[in-house]
Amino acid sequence: MAKTLIVGACGQIGSELTATLRQKHGKDTIIASDIREGSAELMASGPFEVLDATNFAQLQDVIMHYDIDTVYMMAAMLSGTAEKFPMKAWELNMNSLFNVLNLAKEQKIKHLFWPSSIAVFGPTTPKLDTPQQTIMEPSTVYGISKQTGERWCEYYYKRYGVDVRSIRYPGLISYKTPPGGGTTDYAIEIFHSAVKGEVYTSFLNEDTALPMMYMDDAIKATIELMEADGDKINVRSSYNLGGISFTPHELSEAIKLKVSEFKINYKPDFRQAIADSWPSSIDDSVAQKDWNWEHKYDLKTLVDVMLKGVEESIS
Ligand SMILES: NC(=O)c1ccc[n+]([C@@H]2O[C@H](COP(=O)([O-])OP(=O)(O)OC[C@H]3O[C@@H](n4cnc5c(N)ncnc54)[C@H](O)[C@@H]3O)[C@@H](O)[C@H]2O)c1
Repeated sequence: MAKTLIVGACGQIGSELTATLRQKHGKDTIIASDIREGSAELMASGPFEVLDATNFAQLQDVIMHYDIDTVYMMAAMLSGTAEKFPMKAWELNMNSLFNVLNLAKEQKIKHLFWPSSIAVFGPTTPKLDTPQQTIMEPSTVYGISKQTGERWCEYYYKRYGVDVRSIRYPGLISYKTPPGGGTTDYAIEIFHSAVKGEVYTSFLNEDTALPMMYMDDAIKATIELMEADGDKINVRSSYNLGGISFTPHELSEAIKLKVSEFKINYKPDFRQAIADSWPSSIDDSVAQKDWNWEHKYDLKTLVDVMLKGVEESIS
């Protein structure tokens, strides 16, 4: 059976992707890796290697050792943290991608997944139902690294035939692993406050609408895209993925339907400017057409599953 390597497997997405792929294909075919060790659950669930995604030799050694044919490159510095360390973010986000693109070019791996983000869009992009192809002038270092990464992915596909596939994830919401420093983290923190009976102070304004998605939908999309026939994949930069759009106010109202005493106030910080530069909603009709993409979770089901999950995880 072909083997898969997940780099950045201890993160918010990597940990759930690892668990889902191990359930689907068996634990020994899915090799988890990260620059640090992860939760006890992840470490006990199958093979794990400590590796630095920016170190080509280390990455190549692990790939050759396990005879890996597919890599999911999930290591990156996210939007909020990247604004604090722009050069570090650039170095990590670009070098980790080049390493795997070059390993694929040298035919040491056959398939590559690399995540992009709605951060590729900027203040001059149409904000509502942002189309697949549109103006892209990102104003954050994170967005610049993702847009550049998309261009390189498409280039490696066209020039060298590298089978690289990508999704522009919206803000991802989950409770199993803490978020990694993004601008949409408020939509996770809010559930922890609601469950603990605390007042939540949102770092975004009440009317800031952003595209969001429950983690199960994001994992489903990632696996469906990677399993799709190559001739269906017409976009080799990165696919728009929509999900649901809501504001902090709308999310808090949906939470109040289940936790009536929940209270929220607003104290925007530097992440407000990042959020203001991003789309409010995304048109993902190209992903629907090319590989039958369809999301399952709406705002109500997302609130139900998050409240239940957070409650169980802290009890
Ligand atoms: N979470 C979201 O809402 C979201 C939205 C859009 C795009 N994305 C993208 O998805 C990917 C994964 O995001 P996430 O939310 O899981 O991030 P995360 O910060 O939770 O996880 C990233 C993981 O990468 C690891 N890492 C950092 N530097 C490394 C290195 N040099 N070598 C190996 N591992 C290293 C970290 O230890 C961490 O476990 C990133 O590319 C991110 O930009 C995430």
